Amino acid sequence: MTIEEKILTLKKEKNALILAHFYQIPKIQDIADYVGDSLALAKRGQEAKQQLIIICGVCFMAESAKILSKDKTVLIPAVGAGCPMADMVTYEALKAYKEEKPERYIVSYVNTTAAVKTLSDICVTSSNALNIMKQIEADKILFLPDKNLGGYIKKQLPNKDIELWSGFCSTHQALSSDKIVAIKDSYPDAQILAHPECEESVLQYADFIGSTKGILDYAKQSAHKEFVIATEEGIMHPLQQQNKNKIFHLASSKLICPNMKKIGLEELYTCLKEEKEEILLDEKTIQQAKQPLDKMLSMS
Ligand code: 13P
Ligand code: SF4
Repeated sequence: MTIEEKILTLKKEKNALILAHFYQIPKIQDIADYVGDSLALAKRGQEAKQQLIIICGVCFMAESAKILSKDKTVLIPAVGAGCPMADMVTYEALKAYKEEKPERYIVSYVNTTAAVKTLSDICVTSSNALNIMKQIEADKILFLPDKNLGGYIKKQLPNKDIELWSGFCSTHQALSSDKIVAIKDSYPDAQILAHPECEESVLQYADFIGSTKGILDYAKQSAHKEFVIATEEGIMHPLQQQNKNKIFHLASSKLICPNMKKIGLEELYTCLKEEKEEILLDEKTIQQAKQPLDKMLSMS
């Protein structure tokens, strides 16, 4: 039996659901039951009939799935597949901020730990952040932890007083504006599609800015034939699969998230077989962290 067959057999035996993010390696995306962005993965896990959910992504994604489905067993195939951006805001730092500025409404990107979510008023993902923040009545807001996504939203909501945490994604940050200018010269007919985690100096050259799902939808419906992609390289797989007659260039070979690449077929097989690593959160954390996630889901 191939490793793929072994995974599919075990998955059937255990009635498990495999969810994968668009940044996973192609083999993981191909074997998953569903591939999506952070928002879709959170929703899919919650709606699932299966009791065993495997999240092929990073820890905050698996934690969100557990928070939304506390009675299900949620597993992640790679121990330590963290998100460095999520770690740029700690529970203690946010608590201290709130004591100093209790009037600020806390909007947390889903790329945060469960502990940080417990202190948040609402969560957002890159696909619903602008829409949700338009609906928020509070004028004084703290957006955390991504200063790039936050800055992109702030620019579009000039009437709101939005403070930004100073976090960033080291993978998207690796794409410089010089690089995007050079690649634009190399492919003058291509449109540039960028994730809002890229720096402002890069986003200014983008023809479209959106979440991973947003980029996929845009490429599909666009009459253009050639695109430069400014986000993590895993997305090249669904882009090429869904658009056989279009050409995609990755903006930089540095656009690789090392944590997203910690999961391979062997890790997925072991995870299913040994039912490890399980995401375990205490009841109080789940109950408090669920509130901003539920609020997001009701508003998106
Ligand atoms: P999406 O919500 O667009 O899938 O992005 C998640 C992420 O971690 C981007 O770096
Ligand atoms: Fe975190 Fe960046 Fe990796 Fe997304 S790409 S999971 S934000 S480190």
